[in-house]
Amino acid sequence: MENKKARIAVLVSGGGTNLQAIIDAEKSGILHSGTVALVISNVRSAYALQRAADAGIPGMWISKKAEGGQEGFERKLASVLEEQQIDLIVLAGFLAILSPAFTARYDHRILNIHPSLIPSFCGEGFYGLKVHEAALAKGVKVTGATVHFVNEIPDGGEIIFQKAVEILDGDTPEILQRRVMEQAEWKLLPAAAEKISAQIVAARS
Ligand code: GAR
Repeated sequence: MENKKARIAVLVSGGGTNLQAIIDAEKSGILHSGTVALVISNVRSAYALQRAADAGIPGMWISKKAEGGQEGFERKLASVLEEQQIDLIVLAGFLAILSPAFTARYDHRILNIHPSLIPSFCGEGFYGLKVHEAALAKGVKVTGATVHFVNEIPDGGEIIFQKAVEILDGDTPEILQRRVMEQAEWKLLPAAAEKISAQIVAARS
């Protein structure tokens, strides 16, 4: 029954290809225990908000500046999540760090996708293309993606899924980013959203 599904809020900052993968997974039934109820961006111009609109999903921008800083931003975020009765928060290219007070409040209720095999190339300062630049600079031959729960340590929460992706001669950060997305991120994040949604639904009955 529809009303038994876990209600998911997806938090974004940019292009939103991972959001799109979750939307597509819900359409195809890969994600069937949860439903994307809301998309929230901390960046006004994020294309992800357009993707939400195109899919008929309510989207909103919360401005840290307008809310008077991090505390205000999180207060606003929490009030929207409460209001919308959100069960699960998915960080899909959300490139801001949430405070320990916020992550504690949503213990094991926040997922994040990170574009490397944690514990490599992760933590504060490692986001987006920077992660792939660092992997190429180090000369590793294998990278990948990780979905994990979010706790007070940036990229330090319990790992849910990981998938390895090969690095090839001639890779640029952009080429590698695309391969990691295609081969790992766009599969892992919807799969993890389904797994945790199913657990939330099961725990209710
Ligand atoms: C993705 O590669 C995601 O893994 C990464 O940002 C990109 C967002 O792309 N996230 C991080 O680096 C988090 N530390 P998208 O907006 O197209 O989903």
